[in-house]
Amino acid sequence: MSIPTDHKEIIEAAIAARNCALARYSNFCVGAAIEAEDGKLFTGCNIESAAYELTMCAERVTIWKALSEGARKFKRVAVVADTQRLTPPCGACRQLIWEFCGDVPVVLANLRGDTEMLQMSDLLPRPFDSQFLEEARSQPKT
Ligand code: THU
Repeated sequence: MSIPTDHKEIIEAAIAARNCALARYSNFCVGAAIEAEDGKLFTGCNIESAAYELTMCAERVTIWKALSEGARKFKRVAVVADTQRLTPPCGACRQLIWEFCGDVPVVLANLRGDTEMLQMSDLLPRPFDSQFLEEARSQPKT
């Protein structure tokens, strides 16, 4: 199957990022790309640590790169791993994609040309976000 042309560029960017993955413990390489409002693409890969819990997912590396370079609004996210069942973002990454990108489409892909597009609101129904903190802050103290 060939990659749909509308997602070709962002998927290819995520595939290129995946080639940089440092996944020596799991051998599970992931690449991600995020498209900013102005069309600029930011990319990242997973980076594993010998202290396993310090490992960072490709999606989070990508979000941190984009935010730390000044991008603030995002249109689309892509995640690439080489699994037959397309790999979705983990729970922690769903939270952060929601917080920093909002209800964006998430394009999943593998190296065999399979792709699927999901919406963040379907991946993370009933999310926790800053509105809950604001509501609590505005309530009178007991
Ligand atoms: N991983 C990601 O990079 N993104 C995901 O959404 C799922 C998991 C990475 C983390 C770790 O390096 C490896 O995949 C196995 O969990």
